[in-house]
Amino acid sequence: MAANLSAAGSIYLYHPMNTQRKALISGITGQDGSYLAEQLLARGYEVHGMIRRSSSFNTSRIDHLYNNPELLDRRFFLHYGDLTDSSNLNRLLERIGPDEIYNLGAQSHVKVSFDVPEYTAEVDGIGTLRFLDAIKEVGLKDHVRFYQASTSELYGKVQEIPQTEKTPFYPRSPYGVAKLYGYWIIVNYRESYGIHATNGILFNHESPRRGETFVTRKITRAATRISRGLQDCLLLGNLDAKRDWGYAPEYTDGMWRILQNDEPEDFVLATNITTTVRDFVSVSFSHLGIQLEFRGGGVDEVGVEVSTGRTLVRVDPKYFRPTEVDLLVGDYTKARERLGWEPKTKWDELARIMVDADLALLGSEVKSTNAAVM
Ligand code: NAP
Ligand code: GDD
Repeated sequence: MAANLSAAGSIYLYHPMNTQRKALISGITGQDGSYLAEQLLARGYEVHGMIRRSSSFNTSRIDHLYNNPELLDRRFFLHYGDLTDSSNLNRLLERIGPDEIYNLGAQSHVKVSFDVPEYTAEVDGIGTLRFLDAIKEVGLKDHVRFYQASTSELYGKVQEIPQTEKTPFYPRSPYGVAKLYGYWIIVNYRESYGIHATNGILFNHESPRRGETFVTRKITRAATRISRGLQDCLLLGNLDAKRDWGYAPEYTDGMWRILQNDEPEDFVLATNITTTVRDFVSVSFSHLGIQLEFRGGGVDEVGVEVSTGRTLVRVDPKYFRPTEVDLLVGDYTKARERLGWEPKTKWDELARIMVDADLALLGSEVKSTNAAVM
């Protein structure tokens, strides 16, 4: 679907008599933005999303909202915008007059940030400043609440295990460093101007909507394709990396809870369990009836199917990062005590959810290909 935004972009005008709560989401086409939009609509919000112009379709995660005539241009509005464009941000805030802003837009891939460091800094770091300054410029500073998508990548080379809101930061990538700027500019605008601006320091969260180049989704897609004979082998980078993986919709609910807190404070959202990439691979394949045994080490390590001896997983150094974050595990005690937030889905259940979803997708892809052939 090509989102035709002309109506959404020009007709909508902020009206002071409108009392329905309004949220503006940057990054609404991403994994988190799509879940958050659904949840806010279900809570009765009017939801505005910033969307980038793209030469190909980039709205697949929100098409079901866009195509719903009950929602589109009634309670759900899309606007072209970009975090690199200050005048656009000013205009959007003036027109919409949001009560809550969720800044989820980002160049969010850590490895890619080594290739496009300057752009990553522009969007993930300075983009946050542009938003905050726009809030000041248009006179929303005493009204709006602002959520910043901060990240466990701030901890990088971890200084403490597990990581809490008080653990010192040591980012290990241009992405992490850009987000560090975002983190501190939030704190500074909160302290300088009294803006209700908060950091959600979120540990990795995944779902069937996760981008295909992040490791969990790469694994579940490949495992399902291999199980159906559509792919021979899965190539991965560092199998020893450990992450604290949770389920994305639970984390977007946490974002909303963070903004409902009257005091603007920063919160860690995590599961407090850490797992290797290798174990995520094993559980994903196992759910498809394929038992793997890992043999060898370093770049020669392979994952072999026990029943057939076939090598299904290999290491390819091209997926290594110049500097790696070896281990993340978060302590979410503060979020539990203050927001009543708790993760529900454990990482192995998450892997199974994602595998099942990719299997279903594969089924529909095969069916639609057959339909096209017939
Ligand atoms: P994602 O799926 O990669 O989505 C990123 C979103 O940002 C997309 O909608 C993308 O638009 C948009 N975007 C990219 N560049 C932009 C720009 N210049 N201006 C405006 N929008 C732009 O990311 P996610 O997993 O949903 O994560 C959401 C946010 O949380 C990100 O800020 C990420 O860094 C942060 N975070 C994520 C995790 C996690 O584990 N998922 C953990 C901690 C923090 P297109 O669709 O057009 O590309
Ligand atoms: N992407 C990817 N691809 N990662 C791999 C691969 C591979 O083939 N093989 C091993 N890995 C390892 C990475 O080196 C990393 O240690 C780990 O798997 C997770 O990588 P990603 O899934 O790309 O996520 P990330 O942890 O780097 O970043 C994600 O989580 C952050 C929160 O901690 C992103 O969503 C960031 O935006 C987010 O801030």
